[in-house]
Amino acid sequence: MTSVLSSKKYRDESWDFADANTKQYTHCFHPYPAMMIPQVARKLLEKFGKKAKLLFDPYCGTGTSLVEANLKGINAIGTDINPLARLVAKVKTTVIPLDLLDAYIREFNEFVFQFKMGKQKKEVKVPTFKNIDYWFKKETQYLLSVAKQFIEEIENESVRDFFKVAFSETVREVSLTRNGEFKLFRMSPEQIKKFNPDVLDIMVSKLMRNREGMMEFTRVKKNGSWSKVYGFNTVYGIPENILPIESVDIVITSPPYGDSRTTVAYGQFSRLSNQWLGLEEMNEVDKRCMGGVRAKTLEIFGLKVLDEVIEKIAGIDEYRAKDVVAFYKDYMASIDNVSRVVKRGGIVAYVVGNRRVKGIEIPTDEITKQVFERNGFEHIETIIRRIPHKRMPRRNSPSNVSGKTDVTMNYEYVVVLRKL
Ligand SMILES: C[S@@+](CC[C@H](N)C(=O)[O-])C[C@H]1O[C@@H](n2cnc3c(N)ncnc32)[C@H](O)[C@@H]1O
Repeated sequence: MTSVLSSKKYRDESWDFADANTKQYTHCFHPYPAMMIPQVARKLLEKFGKKAKLLFDPYCGTGTSLVEANLKGINAIGTDINPLARLVAKVKTTVIPLDLLDAYIREFNEFVFQFKMGKQKKEVKVPTFKNIDYWFKKETQYLLSVAKQFIEEIENESVRDFFKVAFSETVREVSLTRNGEFKLFRMSPEQIKKFNPDVLDIMVSKLMRNREGMMEFTRVKKNGSWSKVYGFNTVYGIPENILPIESVDIVITSPPYGDSRTTVAYGQFSRLSNQWLGLEEMNEVDKRCMGGVRAKTLEIFGLKVLDEVIEKIAGIDEYRAKDVVAFYKDYMASIDNVSRVVKRGGIVAYVVGNRRVKGIEIPTDEITKQVFERNGFEHIETIIRRIPHKRMPRRNSPSNVSGKTDVTMNYEYVVVLRKL
């Protein structure tokens, strides 16, 4: 059913994909907060990307839109400041010959078997990062170190990265964090007592599942299409040697909903994996996310929809208003830069959520539309979809009072514009 708010902004249930399988192909690889569902990227490509040759995702996360582009024979470039997301995005879009992959998985299986039989006593170096004993039992630390050593000895880089992605998911599952939460909360003492995960078996099962995903991806992917994943921050510019001016046919992306301190903490989610894999520290990631550093002063953007809500929020809590300012300042700079690399006639599709701060809804869909219009785009449509699958907290604490929650963001907006 389609209900119309205006001819260009409407609710359309066919974009909800309530019962869709979101884990086909390499989409099954690794959890990540607020993932885009593949069906949305797919439908956008079918509707607006028929002739596209190059897709760009300026906040690619774990690469959902890159995978979908490649499945349609479209080349893709993504960027994300979180190194774990980049690793996952790269592995999801890099084809590995199945016989090569199978040889390594067989070797790992054999290794695990021998190890469990006690024939492979391993001298390993357990890492010593901060709080390791708080998050992992000693036995788990040892077994993770055994798996890590095996991975480090893999010569082929693509295979090594494939193993790292399975390892990273294993790290999360065998840690003493409560399941299903994005922020890091420790299990209760009773749960910890009973928790003795079989680290190596879990790793094997991730490898096997991901192998199936890779096989499907390889089978369906159109020949020759590629993805490249970078770590540049679009707030500060887009390197011309990677994406020249007016080179992109279509942008499909889901930007963060707000700053990491008060919305989704990507760095915190990734922290344990990053520590085990020796990737960049969590605090650094969250600081570099949009709005990572609170603005010193309030600001007028010259955009009525935004200025009005900032004024309202500032009337209740000036600090929170400064968080909002910091985020939208970065967000707008990023849109200005993205606008430049899109071809004339090219499409941008931003999947955004309108979060609430201090009970006041921030109309990010409208802000996104207007900032692109300022950059020479015309609005095509905004589709309102329900979020049945997206992994993100449905309730947050908009008042920042812990325990006081509010239902938030059950809908998101697919904002589509064309460059004139
Ligand atoms: C909603 S997630 C994207 C999820 C992605 N569509 C997926 O399916 O996995 C937003 C991403 O933006 C990234 N991010 C935040 N600030 C950024 C910035 N300034 N430049 C690039 N990426 C940024 C975060 O690390 C996060 O991965």
